[in-house]
Amino acid sequence: MFAGLRMLIRLLLRPVLGCLSLVLVLLGLAAPVWADFVLPPLPYDPSALEPAIDATTMTLHHDRHHAAYVANLNAQIAANPELKSLSLEALQGQIARFPAAVRNNGGGHWNHSQFWSVMAPAGQGGEPSEELLAAISSSFGSLEALQSQFNQSASARFGSGWAWLIRKPDGSLAITSTANQDNPLMDLPGIERGTPLLGLDVWEHAYYLNYQNRRPDYIAAWWPLLNWNEVNRRFAAAA
Ligand SMILES: [Fe+2]
Repeated sequence: MFAGLRMLIRLLLRPVLGCLSLVLVLLGLAAPVWADFVLPPLPYDPSALEPAIDATTMTLHHDRHHAAYVANLNAQIAANPELKSLSLEALQGQIARFPAAVRNNGGGHWNHSQFWSVMAPAGQGGEPSEELLAAISSSFGSLEALQSQFNQSASARFGSGWAWLIRKPDGSLAITSTANQDNPLMDLPGIERGTPLLGLDVWEHAYYLNYQNRRPDYIAAWWPLLNWNEVNRRFAAAA
């Protein structure tokens, strides 16, 4: 009898406590318990990549688009509580067992987080390391050949997606492309898997204000922004 009474009280209190928590969150007096994934700040001023990428595009891209992926991913935690025990990177390699909303928003969060880090103001990104240049030469023949192949892949991606330079499990480098917010870490059919060294966002939201439909112009203007120091670090970590 007492057990039944306790269950009844619990059932009656649960929605009350839930509403109270929601009110506190909406009032900014408490953090939502599911807020596990966090939007990283841009590592530079939104205007730092001008004129290649304008400040308005950067602000909208980071503060609205990337922020929405993070919020939408956090909103999935209640229905997918195992997300709480996974890092963002570990999630990518197990994405096949999650619903599409986790795939799209988890991918969007990881992809954009790496995107900000592989860019730097022009002239501040350093140069490819000797080790990376050797790997590029071995896999592509030259840096110019890599860039040509990468530009082709980024331009040819139909609709929205990403172009990537990856290190494959056999140690060679390759260029690949993924649709929507997929990436080469994901355990999905049709994806060429490897460790991403750099990924370029070719969604229209990344360039449309400045370049409209001229995606190749955006890609050409983006190369001088590449943060080779970060690409070198990723290459060394992947070896
Ligand atoms: Fe984007």
